[in-house]
Amino acid sequence: MIEKTLILVKPDGVKRGLVGEVISRFERRGLKIVGIKMVQVDPDFSKKHYAAHVEKGFYSGLETFITSGPVVAMAVEGVHAVEVVRKIVGSTEPKNAEVGSIRGDFAHTANDYSDEKGKATENLIHASGTSEEAKEEVALWFSVEELFNYKTSHEDHVM
Ligand code: PPS
Repeated sequence: MIEKTLILVKPDGVKRGLVGEVISRFERRGLKIVGIKMVQVDPDFSKKHYAAHVEKGFYSGLETFITSGPVVAMAVEGVHAVEVVRKIVGSTEPKNAEVGSIRGDFAHTANDYSDEKGKATENLIHASGTSEEAKEEVALWFSVEELFNYKTSHEDHVM
């Protein structure tokens, strides 16, 4: 099954100069970038993207964080792309992220520490969690005109 998923390099990843490193990890697995742009998120858009979390205690810190600088948004396509991308990215809370994953190699912080400080957990990346979420998130972040249409044969997607 070939599908698209949304990846964000969050403001901490952009500030740390990790955009190239992050992109290369997806490209070398054979995933195709079909849309990419740099975006300054505003509070309204943050509430749309994080609609499932707006009522949670950590949301205010999360909004402050995601609006604190530009993000790089990517739509990436591949076979079971949602699941493969989540593995490459690693567990949401950096302290639990597997070594070899992006978060496991470039971050180590934890939610309890962030909660104490009243800040969001800086975990470098957002990646859609399910195929359903991926469809909604790609449509929220990219217009049809902004998405490149590769031929959808298996050979185009596996190196
Ligand atoms: S939940 O509550 O289990 O549904 O949360 P989850 O699906 O893991 O995603 C929560 C998103 O909020 C970000 N975030 C935090 N979560 C929990 N605690 C703290 N302190 C916190 N700070 C930020 C977390 O990184 C998830 O965002 P994304 O962009 O999906 O990584």
